[in-house]
Order: sequence, then C-alpha cells, then structure tokens
Amino acid sequence: MFGFNRAKKSLVAVAATAAAAAATLLGAPSAAAAPQPVVGGTTTTASAYPYVMQITTASQSQFCGGTLVAPDKVVTAAHCMVGRSTSSTRVVGGRTYRNGSDGTVAQVSRIWIHPSYTSATRGYDVAVLTLSSSMPYTTAPYVSASQTGVYAAGTTARILGWGTTSSGGSSSNQLRTATVPTVSDSSCSSSYGSSYKASDMVCAGYASGGVDTCQGDSGGPLMINGVLAGIVSWGNGCAWAGYPGVYTRLTTFSDLVTQQINS
Ligand code: ARG
Repeated sequence: MFGFNRAKKSLVAVAATAAAAAATLLGAPSAAAAPQPVVGGTTTTASAYPYVMQITTASQSQFCGGTLVAPDKVVTAAHCMVGRSTSSTRVVGGRTYRNGSDGTVAQVSRIWIHPSYTSATRGYDVAVLTLSSSMPYTTAPYVSASQTGVYAAGTTARILGWGTTSSGGSSSNQLRTATVPTVSDSSCSSSYGSSYKASDMVCAGYASGGVDTCQGDSGGPLMINGVLAGIVSWGNGCAWAGYPGVYTRLTTFSDLVTQQINS
C-alpha cells in the first residue's frame, strides 16, 4: 500500500531502467499483455493457500496480506501495522476475493511491531497480530533461525497476494500467486546499494523483471520449500528489470516471532 521512496542517487538509473523496460515491451508483442497482479502471476484461491490472510480495516477493506502461523497468530509487515489500532484492524481468512463476504473475520487483540522498526528500507519489517478468536484454517510453518539455507540464490519462492497488477495499477480482486527465484545478497546490493541490509532482508525476482509482488501485497508470505521464509516488504517499482522485490529475512526474526507466537 505504501510506495517505496527511491533513493535520490538512484533516480537516474531508475529512469534509464524504466525507459529500457518500456522499449523492451514495445518491441516484444508477447510481453505486451496486461501486467498481472502479484505482477506476472495466476489466480488462485484461499482454499488452495489457507494460511494466506487479508489484513483489513474495520469495514473489511483489504490493505495488506498476512500469514496464519498459529490459529490465533498472524505474521505480517511492520509497515502495514504502524499507526494502526487493534480496533481499526481485522484479519480475514478463507476469502479468495477482496470484495467477498465469505470466510472468517477475526478481531485483533494485540499488535506487536518489531521495537526497532522505523521504515521498511531500514529493516525490522515484521509484526505479529494476536487474534481475538481462532481461525479454522491450516497454518503455515515458519523458518527457524538456523534454516538460513532456504535463501540460497536461485531457490524457488512462492509469492501470494491481492496487490496491484502493476506499479501504480489497481488491486486484484482475486488472490494471485507466482513463483520467483531468490537473489544473492551481492546481486541485491548492486540493485539497492546500502538500502539493502542482508541481515534483515532477502530479494527475490527475475533479473529481467516481469514477476513480483506489488503495492497491497505487503505483509504477505514469501514461501520457500513449504515454510514461511519472508514477508513482502518493499521494492523499487514492481517487476522492473534489475529491481527484485525485497522481503523481510524471517530467519533473523524467527526467535523473536516465536516468542510472540507463544505469548
Ligand atoms: N510496500 C508495498 C506494500 O506496502 C509492497 C511493495 C513490494 N514491492 C515489490 N516491488 N516487490 O504493499
């Protein structure tokens, strides 16, 4: 939901990349199809991915994603929750469409935001919600602190969400999913410079772009080998060549998240 404020120093590079991407699109008819949300993805259902939650306002308007990791605990991004009250927030499970009224709506009794969080590009982009009632859906396992091998460059990761279909586009009514390869720290550092903090973040996406999470997907899962390994956090535009999506590196926060889930 929140745009990434690109670093001033990368403005020129960004403009050049965007122009190159536009030129590529013009020259390649097969790539000219309308961008799809979770850009480049396919539609899916909440029953196929029962742990995927909509984070909504009190009037059930979805603005972020989340992952059910225990019947009454949802992992999401800190930047989704900052400034929000429990009473203005709901978690909706089992709902494939943003405009649906099915599934299960839970109130939120507690919002934990990583105490060091200030902004997504500075890291610590993790929050845990405690629900007032349990969700009747299968939970997702999440990475342990020692499972750092899941981020090996090139590993297939699954992204999910109701986010926009392109940078600055509109949200998808139906849940979408796609897979993207994880990106090495050195490669992601060359994309984002010092904004990329390998201790707290991991990148995923194709070098040529085309598939990515986007605005409104934030907080949602990055699943690797069947475990929740990352949280949609930020990126420069969406699906742009040379700018992979940046996800919270959950191994770094696994012990803290475990504490929250057990408290
Ligand atoms: N910050 C965005 C949100 O709040 C997510 C952006 C993800 N961007 C990307 N290129 N992967 O929804």
